[in-house]
Amino acid sequence: MADQKIPEVRRELEKLAARPQTSADFMNAVVKLLHERMLRYNWVGFYMLEAESKPGVLVLGAFQGAMTPHTRIPLNQGICGAAASIGKTVVVDDVAQDSRYLACSIETKSEIVVPIFVRGRVVGELDIDSHFPAAFSGEDRELVEYCAQLVGRHLEKVRA
Ligand code: SME
Repeated sequence: MADQKIPEVRRELEKLAARPQTSADFMNAVVKLLHERMLRYNWVGFYMLEAESKPGVLVLGAFQGAMTPHTRIPLNQGICGAAASIGKTVVVDDVAQDSRYLACSIETKSEIVVPIFVRGRVVGELDIDSHFPAAFSGEDRELVEYCAQLVGRHLEKVRA
């Protein structure tokens, strides 16, 4: 079923992206908007790649939802580590069936992780958990990928 809210949320994202602000403020606004408006997005957060860590580690950034025990995720762990390593969106319809999954809440049933690129390199990702199984349709995926693109462009401007 098409989610009526998606076009509206996209328009709000465009407005937010056009506003002059720091990337940190923009990322805070993105997680707040998605968490408030997309009712099945129960945890929404960014993990950013720590530039100086070798091997790489993802560090929790702006988020909305309950505090997670996973504030630092090595690239070889979790669904988060997988998405950042391969540089591709990962959608998991049933986290209980995925051996990579690192539990953040016992209520989480499905998850989407979308990498963020700056000049072709993964710099972080947008991670969303849902209490509903298979919560992320093709349209949701497009919306979350759009958010990740906007954040990538924002970061690209300030890191120019
Ligand atoms: N579930 C993620 C860990 C992050 S929490 O969901 C917020 C994973 O498997 O990498």
